[in-house]
Amino acid sequence: MSDWKFAPVGAALAIGAALLMGQEPAVTGPGATRPQGAAGTTASAAAIAASKQDPAAVERGGKAYATHCAGCHGATAKGGPGAPDLVRSLLVLDDEKGILIAPVLREGRPDKGMPKPNLTEPQIADIVAWLHVQTYAAGHRVTYVFQDVVTGNAKKGEEYFNANCGSCHSATGDLAGIAKRYDPFSLQGRWLQPRGRGGRGAAKPSGKADETVTVTLPGGQSVSGKLEHIDDFNVALREPSGAYRSFTREGDTPKVEVHDPLKPHNELLHKLSDADIHNVTAYLVTLK
Ligand code: HEC
Ligand code: HEC
Repeated sequence: MSDWKFAPVGAALAIGAALLMGQEPAVTGPGATRPQGAAGTTASAAAIAASKQDPAAVERGGKAYATHCAGCHGATAKGGPGAPDLVRSLLVLDDEKGILIAPVLREGRPDKGMPKPNLTEPQIADIVAWLHVQTYAAGHRVTYVFQDVVTGNAKKGEEYFNANCGSCHSATGDLAGIAKRYDPFSLQGRWLQPRGRGGRGAAKPSGKADETVTVTLPGGQSVSGKLEHIDDFNVALREPSGAYRSFTREGDTPKVEVHDPLKPHNELLHKLSDADIHNVTAYLVTLK
């Protein structure tokens, strides 16, 4: 997964956090299922909101999809016998406002096993909206799993934690009692996005998540501190003494090395499965 896919997760979290702020998650507890909209809609309300599709169109689209498409492409659009997975279809992923999908829905691909569906243009637009929520939810599992954060297996979460998180954290050290400081929903936001801004899971300014930078001048002298600003032309930092230093950049001069303590977190996000997310959160919730 490339970085552009990762970038919107924070925004999605913030939106989801705002959505759920002050209200209990709709579904919690072991054995809870995700809210099912019409026609096997597996995306949560948060995913619909974050994907910026019109909820009414998504609802109608889900029904039309169930009637006209699910028989071949499966109830969740993940494919059926002989018909491709639409959630991973590049044509669907690359689509904007139906430009690529609509022609397929207008004409079908009769020579390749997809008869012409006979839909009206509004129906096509609705189905496109519904499909975009499915791909959004698949690409942003954080919004997808909002509603049922503590359904995981804490024991498996502990194993995952020991294998992947234990090099930096300890359940009896820095994370002791973390479940007392955050409710489960915020806790999940904290560990998935420790630098997240806004919402209930907002970072406290511990400084441990700050990016640092070392600037090495042509003469060999180097200056380090908290990264305040960086672009192609300038880099600015705050030294431990509190002094603010700013340098003009020209190509590789001076040499600039940025260190992001949260890089491993960001890399983890690319590797986590839905089950890992549930399990780790279920484990962290026990750290009271
Ligand atoms: C009778 C089975 C059938 C039905 C019903 C059907 N499809 Fe298909 N669909 C297919 C097959 C088979 C393909 C692959 C065609 C090909 O190889 O180009 C396909 C291809 C597609 C593609 C192109 C995917 C890509 O990556 O190229 C889209 C989008 C799509 N279908 C959406 C829909 C939607 C939305 C509906 C409902 C309105 C629908 N299909 C109904 C069988 C079906
Ligand atoms: C390479 C080091 C590293 C790894 C690996 C790592 N983290 Fe972190 N984690 C950090 C740093 C640095 C912070 C920011 C600390 C702060 O802001 O207090 C952080 C913050 C957190 C926080 C927020 C703490 C708070 O008090 O708000 C949680 C929870 C957390 N990590 C859980 C995890 C989990 C779970 C894993 C494994 C899936 C993991 N981390 C893997 C370095 C790491």
